[in-house]
Amino acid sequence: MKTTIVKMDEDNIDFKNIMQAGEIIRQGGLVAFPTETVYGLGADAYNAKAAEKIYAAKGRPSDNPLIVHICYMQDLEQIAAYVPKEAKLLAKAFWPGPLTMILRKQKQVPDEITGGMDTVAVRMPSNEIALALIRAGGGFVAAPSANTSGRPSPTNAAHVYEDLQGRIPMIIDGGQVGIGIESTIIDLTETVPMVLRPGYITMEMLQNVIGTVTCDPALLTEASIKKPKAPGMKYKHYAPKAQMVLVEGDTSQVISKIKELAKQAALNGKQVGIIGTKETIDCYEQGLVLSVGERQDEETIAHNLYKILREFDKSDVDIIYAECFFQLQMGRAIMNRMLKAAGHQIIQVT
Ligand code: TXA
Ligand code: MG
Repeated sequence: MKTTIVKMDEDNIDFKNIMQAGEIIRQGGLVAFPTETVYGLGADAYNAKAAEKIYAAKGRPSDNPLIVHICYMQDLEQIAAYVPKEAKLLAKAFWPGPLTMILRKQKQVPDEITGGMDTVAVRMPSNEIALALIRAGGGFVAAPSANTSGRPSPTNAAHVYEDLQGRIPMIIDGGQVGIGIESTIIDLTETVPMVLRPGYITMEMLQNVIGTVTCDPALLTEASIKKPKAPGMKYKHYAPKAQMVLVEGDTSQVISKIKELAKQAALNGKQVGIIGTKETIDCYEQGLVLSVGERQDEETIAHNLYKILREFDKSDVDIIYAECFFQLQMGRAIMNRMLKAAGHQIIQVT
């Protein structure tokens, strides 16, 4: 299959190409498209066969459910059997935007979309290209991140092409995404709403709207110890090809430790990669040193993380040592992704 890349400007939507992309989706095909978080791989959410194509293209286990993307508030009732007060408040506060809600599903949502669960994930993205495509595709677009299963999510069209070239008919290239990590997932079918995947919308932001919110305990420990409630969170994820080790502690001690580890690894004949920040990269003397962003501005770190991990994949590094971030606000989401990428290998320096 030939994969066509269609360039598009979010501020000047090319409706001729959007109609063509929508037609592919309505006919049961797949289209990759930008959202504000990461690129998605879209299919008609009411077409079970189209969902199967998503799993095949990504090499994704079929027990891992998909998020249904909508473009009108009233469509939430078409997907969810029951919309609690909290869901309405959160939709009002954060939609369109990077928040996914888990709700009881309507019967007509196919089991292939929800991995056989009786709940469904719903989100209204804010990217204008995504909204136009959902509208053109019939209003209900199931979309996981547009990467091969296990690789970092794509934050630009080239990443999608790298993973899915020849497997899908169309990629809409809307440039680099804004946020860079996947949406926050909140489960509203629990007695106390529970965050299953941290993201740009933080616990504090959610609590300001609906009061007490908990966090899936599996997120706080090693993935293998407890089973996370979002099936996708149990898989090895975002993982670079090289081994990755996080180093946590006071920044100056972290730098010394990484330098020492890098020196040792190089002596053992290994190619070393280092993930530092704008403030620290000049401290490192050996290896492929990449800055993930500015400590002063965590949004830059979320924005660059997956791109950096993919850059290491293009090089021949054997081991990557990475600095850590405070697990506050966005830092919680960043560290969640980094810990998964590192398979929870972390060294504490004191
Ligand atoms: O930002 C995003 O959410 C992106 C863009 C494309 O919208 N999408 C995305 O989809 O990250 P995906 O499929 O890569 O991640 C969806 C996550 C998985 O961990 C999945 O297990 C979880 O959502 N999920 C989906 N339905 C669920 C359900 N009913 N209950 C619990 N978790 C669910
Ligand atoms: Mg994903």
